[in-house]
Amino acid sequence: MPDKVYHECRELISQGKVLLEDLHDWGFSSVPELVAEDLPICPVELPAARAEGQAETACRKETLEELGARLQTCTRCPLCEQRQRVVFGVGNPQADLVLVGEAPGREEDEKGVPFVGEAGRLLDRILFAMKLSRKDVYICNVIKCRPPKNRDPQTEEIAACEQFLKQQLELIRPRLIIALGRFAAQTLLQSKEPIGRLRGQWREYQSIPLMPTYHPAYLLRNPAGKRDVWEDMKQVLHKLNG
Ligand code: URA
Ligand code: URA
Repeated sequence: MPDKVYHECRELISQGKVLLEDLHDWGFSSVPELVAEDLPICPVELPAARAEGQAETACRKETLEELGARLQTCTRCPLCEQRQRVVFGVGNPQADLVLVGEAPGREEDEKGVPFVGEAGRLLDRILFAMKLSRKDVYICNVIKCRPPKNRDPQTEEIAACEQFLKQQLELIRPRLIIALGRFAAQTLLQSKEPIGRLRGQWREYQSIPLMPTYHPAYLLRNPAGKRDVWEDMKQVLHKLNG
């Protein structure tokens, strides 16, 4: 077997193993039925190259795609100086469910796609356990450019960027929102309450039910929190399917 194929097979098997371990942690005794292409161990698709410099039109609302294209050249805050890619968002523009994270990390900055690093792979496994895939939902962050060394976003950076998240939510108008971690929850809810108190309880953003939960990166450091997140996701599924 050629080396490359061998290594790809090994990588897929090890990703499958992690998926099964996580499903076991969530309390599953069997693998949820899904077609193979929805398994969260598929290679990530990159968004098509975007047209640059599109003019704004005064007479109609900007589309999500146009907003994303406009953001590619954003210089509203100093994060633009070190970024490789603006990480706007991915998924279904008509999604019922939007998941909002914090900010891109190294891999997201390289690829221009949110949640493609280790935390992202855990997020994919959470979605899989919910019988959802990236095609069903929309995923984005509060901050669209990577903070250096993955430090916390600063208040001024959030202030410069949050209008774009608000526009995304306005354009998508999902039925439900999941806020992943402290920054997403506190920004969308205009709250200073700690995530440990916010999580697990329905709130509202612009009349849209919002469920705050722990960030997947936090779960990587604190696997014991996975049980809480799964409880929160069950509440989301109940509302989504009910
Ligand atoms: N963490 C986030 O909050 N967002 C990403 O896109 C990746 C990691
Ligand atoms: N701190 C955060 O910023 N997010 C979490 O989800 C947990 C702790």
